[in-house]
Parts: sequence; structure tokens; C-alpha cells
Amino acid sequence: MQKFYITTPIYYVTDKPQLGNAYPTIAADVLARWHRMRGEDVFFLVGTDEHGEKVETAAKAAGKQPKEFVDDVVGVYKDVWKRLGISYDYFIRTSDQSHEAMVAELIDEMAQNGDIYKGFYEDWYCVPDETFWTELQLKDGKCPVCGRPVKKVKEECYYFKLSKYQGALLELYEKNPSFLSPKLRSKEIMNRVKAGLNDISITRSTIKWGVPFPLDKKHTVYVWVDALFNYVTALGGATGVHFTEFWPADVHLVGKEINWFHSVIWPALLMSSGIEPPRMVFAHGWWTAEGKKMSKSLGNSVDPVEVANRYSVDALRYFLLREMPLGDDGDYSEKSLVTRLNNELVAELGNLVNRTLTMAEKFQGDIKGKPELETSLDLEGINRCIDNMDTFGALDGIFSFIRAANKYVNDNAPWKLQGDELGNVLYNLLEASRVISILVYPFMPETGTRIAAQLGVGVGSLNDCKFKEFEGKIKKGDYLFKKAV
Ligand code: MSP
Repeated sequence: MQKFYITTPIYYVTDKPQLGNAYPTIAADVLARWHRMRGEDVFFLVGTDEHGEKVETAAKAAGKQPKEFVDDVVGVYKDVWKRLGISYDYFIRTSDQSHEAMVAELIDEMAQNGDIYKGFYEDWYCVPDETFWTELQLKDGKCPVCGRPVKKVKEECYYFKLSKYQGALLELYEKNPSFLSPKLRSKEIMNRVKAGLNDISITRSTIKWGVPFPLDKKHTVYVWVDALFNYVTALGGATGVHFTEFWPADVHLVGKEINWFHSVIWPALLMSSGIEPPRMVFAHGWWTAEGKKMSKSLGNSVDPVEVANRYSVDALRYFLLREMPLGDDGDYSEKSLVTRLNNELVAELGNLVNRTLTMAEKFQGDIKGKPELETSLDLEGINRCIDNMDTFGALDGIFSFIRAANKYVNDNAPWKLQGDELGNVLYNLLEASRVISILVYPFMPETGTRIAAQLGVGVGSLNDCKFKEFEGKIKKGDYLFKKAV
């Protein structure tokens, strides 16, 4: 059986999830669900990044011990993911004992390879991004990624010989061109690696809240090294049963601001600990508000649960994946969400299912005929989009089919037909609706399930996207979506 291992970034647990955190989690959920529907053995990993200075400081501000603080926030994360329909297979926490033990083992492995040495760090640090910067890299004295103030760090540390892996990394990018995805971001990474790599500090001696560094317990492991290893420790480490089954990861879905960590540092850490690199790192874009990245600290973030409560979880999931391709940036606006909800979910999908069921419920004759609408579906094309991480294109393909079905209603004017002719049109519309229940399910699980229930069938798999005899028992329920104002 084909396997599919997909991961999201693990989030800092300083606060409840924002729309920006919900986005990659929903996108990964859609992909995981699609691959499951294709009959693959899927492992979908999510989790939380719990160590380091940022969390330590947030816990202090909340007047709590770090562990007590993170336990509370993790509870909120799990509730929100449940509310948003996230079908993860495992939730990793970097404060898990088993994770900490495996990180120590992996670092021992790196040390045995001669890749770790002691030194002294004297440069800048961005606490919100947990990132080290040299003076030259700063932009107007601030963090070049997030623009927030940095602080001077002067401490003894241990270094990882990242420079040693320059050649191996370039070879990896060359041999596997989809490793750096999407294409538009691969050049930048390659050019930076070609320009030369500096060794990186991988410990902090002033931060207590972290994995004790196995070679010197006065230090803790730098939070990014601890965090990146989650993708392996979640599988039980390099000797785990799940590791044999699922590694290498098929996709690490990450935000573009953390692409460097995943596309450069992560494969080098793996090479150093004797583990094969993942197959793909896909860097997605940002939701912005008036051109600025949405984030809690800028005060322009949106609560995904509030949006879901106002418009439904499925409207939110649909909008996030329909408004822009996964690799692009886009401005978030509730107005655009409402427009898509009204024009696409209500007027196209909802209307199709509703009028089909209304007519079919009244019809007394046999629902059977020739599969005339089936050719309007390009399932192969949609599958290809999913394989290329093009969720936007996949939705386009699905909605082309929905539009074709609505056009079929208008062209055939079933209200003027009766008998076998009407039976034939209804057969096509019911089978199209059944297939649509499958196609929309990964994007909108509640809607897919409701359409299937109204048709009186179970939600099928992608193999069931062929027209056959209509076998359902119609139980028309409420409209699928409510028009918003
Ligand atoms: N803890 C690290 C990741 C470690 S992975 C081994 C981290 N955490 S975070 O809490 O800051 O979450 C960052 C991720 O959230 C980003 O990589 C991105 O995927 C997502 N987003 C946060 N804000 C976002 C937007 N405004 N728009 C889209 N995604 C954004 O970095």
C-alpha cells in the first residue's frame, strides 16, 4: 500500500491558535484526507513547540511554571483543531519525555559523526522567532524576518558543522527537484546555500526550559533543533515501527519564513544523524492584513473559531484554500469570505444539491439512465493537482464539475420533463451529487458527510467517483449553507 506522511509546523504554545496557524493545519488536513480517500496509508502529524525563551518568557508573564503553562495552551490547541475538523493521527509535544530522550540520542549520533564542537556565541537573537542573527543580517537593527527588536546574546555554546553539508545539500536539491517546493522559492534557497554556510549554534546556556544538552548539562538544546527532530521522534525515533513504515516524510508543510530551517538546517541535521532526508518541504505563503503578515504580536490576527462560529467551519476551510494558491500570499478579508460563501457555496454547490433533491423527492418513476454528466469531471486532473500541492487547482476542478451539473439542469429544464426523460436527468444529477459529496469531503468534511446523508449513501472513496446505478434513499434535509449578509 502507498504511504503518505505529512506534517505541519509545530506551533509555539504562547497563546491560542490564530488564523495563520489554522491555515497550514487545514491545508495539511485536506491533503491527508484526500490521500486517505485514495486508499493510502496516511500519517498526519501536528504538534506543539514548547521549549525555548519565547515560551519561558510567556509562562513567566502568566505567573506560571513553564510546564503548567504549556499544558493549558496545548489543551486549547487540541480543542481548536477538533472544532476545525483536523483529522490528525498524532499530536507531538516537545515536552514529552520520549521526545526529549530521542533528541538526546540523535544529538549523540551527530557528535559521534564529529559534527559538534564547543565555541562562544556573540551576536543577536530574535526571541519571538527564536532565531540567531549576525550584525550584517539585521535590517535597520531589527530581525530581518519579522522586523521586531533583537537582543544581544553572549554565551558559551556548542556549534553544529552546518558548513560541512553544503555539497550534500546542493546534491540533494539537484537530485530531487521537488524537495524545494514550490519552485518560486527554490532559487533563493539554492543561491544562499551556494554562497556558503556558517556553522550554527545549537545550544543555549542561559535558557533552562529546554532539552538538556546530552554532551554538557549546563546547556539546553537550541529550541529549533529540538523542534525539527519532532518529525522523527513522533514516529518513535529512527528505530520505531512507524519510522520504518512512514519515513521519509512525503511533505513538510511550513510557512515561508521558516523555510530555511526546514530546507537547509533540517536535512543537514538528518544527514549528520544518519537519517534519509524528507521528500519535500513545501513553503506556503502568508495571510496578510493590509499587506502585513497577520500575527498576534502585530494585533492584526483573526480567531479562526470566531469565523467558524459565524459562517461554519466548512466555509472557513473552503475560503482559506480557494482564495489563493498554497504558495502565494493574500490579504484576508471577511468580505471576500462572504462573497465566496454566497456565490460559490450557497449559489453553486448548495443550490445544485438542493434542487436535485427537491425534484428527486417528488419524482415517482425510476431513477435511471445514461451517465451523461460523468465526462464533465476531470478526476485525473484534480488528482494531479493534489500531487502537485495545488489545492487551489483541485478546487477549481471540483467547482467546474459543480458548474457543469448546474448547467446541465438549466440546459435540460427538468421541470418541463416527465417519465423516463426526467428519470434520466435526475439520475445524472443524483450521481453527480454523490460524486461531489466525495470530492468536497476532504475540503469540507461536514458538507461532504451531509450531502451523502441526504442522498442516503455513505461517503465513498475516490474509487467511487464513477457513475453507477443510483442506490441511495433520499432524505432531503436543510440547506447546506446559509447565505451571509
Ligand atoms: N515553532 C515554530 C515552528 C517549528 S516547526 C519544527 C514556529 N511556530 S509558530 O507558532 O510561529 O508558527 C509558525 C507557522 O504558522 C508558520 O510557519 C506558518 O506556517 C503559520 N503562520 C503564522 N502566521 C501566518 C500567517 N499570517 N499566514 C500564514 N501562515 C502563518 O514558527
